[in-house]
Amino acid sequence: MSLQEQLSAIVEEARQGAGVVADRAAMEAFKARFMGPRGTLTEAMKEMGKVPKEEKPAVGRQINEAKQSLLALFEELVGRIETAERTVRLGPPVDPSLPRIDDGAGTIHPIAQVREELVRVFRRIGFNVAEATEVETEFFCFDALNMPGDHPARDMQDSYYLPDVAHFDNVSKRESERYLLRTHTSTVQIRTLLREPPPVRIVAPGRCFRRDTPDATHSANFHQIEGLYVDEQVSLTDLKATLDHFVREVFGSKAKTRLRPSFFPFTEPSFEMDFYSPDLGKLSHRWLEIMGCGLVDPTVFEACGIDAGRFSGFAFGMGIERIAMILQGVDDIRYYYQNDRRFLRQFAG
Ligand code: DAH
Repeated sequence: MSLQEQLSAIVEEARQGAGVVADRAAMEAFKARFMGPRGTLTEAMKEMGKVPKEEKPAVGRQINEAKQSLLALFEELVGRIETAERTVRLGPPVDPSLPRIDDGAGTIHPIAQVREELVRVFRRIGFNVAEATEVETEFFCFDALNMPGDHPARDMQDSYYLPDVAHFDNVSKRESERYLLRTHTSTVQIRTLLREPPPVRIVAPGRCFRRDTPDATHSANFHQIEGLYVDEQVSLTDLKATLDHFVREVFGSKAKTRLRPSFFPFTEPSFEMDFYSPDLGKLSHRWLEIMGCGLVDPTVFEACGIDAGRFSGFAFGMGIERIAMILQGVDDIRYYYQNDRRFLRQFAG
C-alpha cells in the first residue's frame, strides 16, 4: 500500500469509528489511536524519512491534509460531546407553549380593583387622572400645602426622608429642600396647579408612605386617592354634591353623607366626611368616617401662583385601603400586603 493509500485509509477509519465515540474518555482514546505516540498517523509520518527527496513536498502535503481532516473530525466530536453533556445538565427539554402547571392566571389585586372603581366613578363626572412621583420634596409635600417647617407631620418620626446624596432627575425641587417619600397624594394638587391653569378637575390615586407601627388599620405603605376641583365660583355646594354622588355610586343609592368640621392646613373650611348606608352588611346603619375634604386654602393658590380672588376650589383625600376594607369586609389591612393567594383569590373577578 502506498503512503497515500495508507493516509486515505486512516482518515476513512477515523470517519467510520467516530460514530461510537460518546464521551470525553472515549474521545481521548480515539484521538490516541491516530495521533498518539503509536497512533496510525504518527506511524505513517515516520515513513516520511524513506520517501525520495523529490517526492517529499507532495507527500508532506498529503500528510498535512490527512492531519487536518482528523483534527476537524475531532473538533466536531468534541462539539457533539459538549452538547450531550449540556443536555444532561439541563434535564428534559422544556416546552414553553405548555399551559402553566399552577392553577391559572393571576388576579387583579383587591386594592387595585377598588382604586379603579373609585377612579371610574370620578371619571364619569368629568375628573381626569393626574399622577406624580412617590419620591417628593418637602416643598411639594408640605410647604406648598401650608404645612410650614415646624409642622408635626414633617417630623423625621413620621416621614421617610432620603439621604442627602440621593438625586432624582424626574423629581423637580423648588430650592434645595430634602427629598422624602410622599406622605399623602396632596402633592399632586401642587404639581398639577403649577403645570396647568384652572379649570382643573383631577383625581390622583397613588401610593403613600408614613412611619407607622403596622397593626390592623395602619401600614407604613398605603394608598390614597386625592381629588381637586378648581374653577371660578366653586363652592361648598359643589363639594357636597360631588361627594354625595360618589358615596351613592360606591356604597349604595341609599347612602347619606355628613360633613363634620375639622382642620387641614391646605383647606379652609375643612371637614371630615362620614357616610351611612343601609346596604353594607355588618357595617350598615352606622356613620363611617372615610375622607378629609374642604375648600382650597388661599395660601395653596398663592404657592401655585393662582389668583385666589378669582378662583376657588375644593379638595378631598381618602385612604383606598379604608374603602376597600369596608367594601370587601376585610378587618385587617395587613392581609392586603401578604400576597397570600388564599386571600387574593377571593377577590378574583
Ligand atoms: N392629605 C390628607 C391626609 O393625608 C387628606 C386630605 C384631607 C386631603 C383633606 C385633602 C383634603 O385634599 O382636602 O391626611
